[in-house]
Amino acid sequence: MIEAEKLTKEFGGFTAVENVSVQVAEGEVLAFLGPNGAGKTTTVRMLGSILKPTSGSARIAGFDTVTQPRQVRQVIGLLTEFPGLYQRMKGLEYLRFFGELQNMPADLIRRRSEELLSRFELSDAQDKQIGAYSKGMKQKLTLVRAMLHDPLVLFLDEPTSAMDPHSAKLVRDSIAELRRDRRTIVLCTHNLPEAEQLADRIAIIRRGQIIAQGTPAELKQRLLGDPLMEIKLAGPLNGLVNFLNEKVSVVNHGHNWVRYSVPDPDTFNPYLLGELARRNTAVVTLSEVSRSLEEVYLRIVESDQHVDAVVQPQPERAG
Ligand SMILES: Nc1ncnc2c1ncn2[C@@H]1O[C@H](COP(=O)(O)OP(=O)(O)OP(=O)(O)O)[C@@H](O)[C@H]1O
Ligand SMILES: [Mg+2]
Repeated sequence: MIEAEKLTKEFGGFTAVENVSVQVAEGEVLAFLGPNGAGKTTTVRMLGSILKPTSGSARIAGFDTVTQPRQVRQVIGLLTEFPGLYQRMKGLEYLRFFGELQNMPADLIRRRSEELLSRFELSDAQDKQIGAYSKGMKQKLTLVRAMLHDPLVLFLDEPTSAMDPHSAKLVRDSIAELRRDRRTIVLCTHNLPEAEQLADRIAIIRRGQIIAQGTPAELKQRLLGDPLMEIKLAGPLNGLVNFLNEKVSVVNHGHNWVRYSVPDPDTFNPYLLGELARRNTAVVTLSEVSRSLEEVYLRIVESDQHVDAVVQPQPERAG
């Protein structure tokens, strides 16, 4: 649904985005993560046909972002960082204006506006001037605008950054619902749990380049190694560390617990539990120690290695 080939953007002599190639399949959610100024918004603006790349090209649903911007705008919804909202217009009026630009019939504009304003709890403000909206309300209105014509592809650049926790959850729920409806979504966020919850795939951008790409599980596997387990016994370890050391790699231990990493927990853990049962060793818990995307992110972004030394972008999923 989205195919970008070596997108590059220079501002004056400064390269903000360099050779970004990315593909997003229909129904997939891709999250761009990366430090401030990394080039996420610039990339999204090029994909959304509001900024012309210096070189490279992109197609959205088959339409070229440079030569077919009108067609691109019909199939996409865009929530940008600095939305051009018309401060003197009222919320509902603004949506009508935008819906007309999208050639939507009047009754559909009305129905969709009401439905979306109500979903994001903006109905009470629909006849208020946008200039009098709070920051979070403006962000919600921009999101309603992006979703109004039910586009195939959505670009959501930090959609929850100004929102209170309850509103942010409404937005995340909506994104999850759009994903279930097979919409294709590109999300920029600094909220890593949000990215982990919503995204099928993550692309980390640093200094204008994609330096890592993959599913959250793949990135964890490649950056943090094998899954980490913790076993806790009812009594002392009695040689368990030595036993484990012969089979897997022990990370650390206390008087009644051991952490170890293992490439195939599905085979190893049942075997271990069987062995312990045979020796009448009481096990309190055996569980995977969950590792966060934050750990992966910080490791990638803080390392100063060359791109290829970190993680090669994954071969893309077909479609
Ligand atoms: N119109 C512009 N003119 C000149 N430089 C620009 C322009 N837009 C962006 N840049 C520069 O390009 C770089 C990338 O900016 P961009 O907004 O894409 O970053 P970002 O990854 O979205 O950051 P953030 O997380 O802070 O939103 C920055 O160094 C920024 O200053
Ligand atoms: Mg940005």
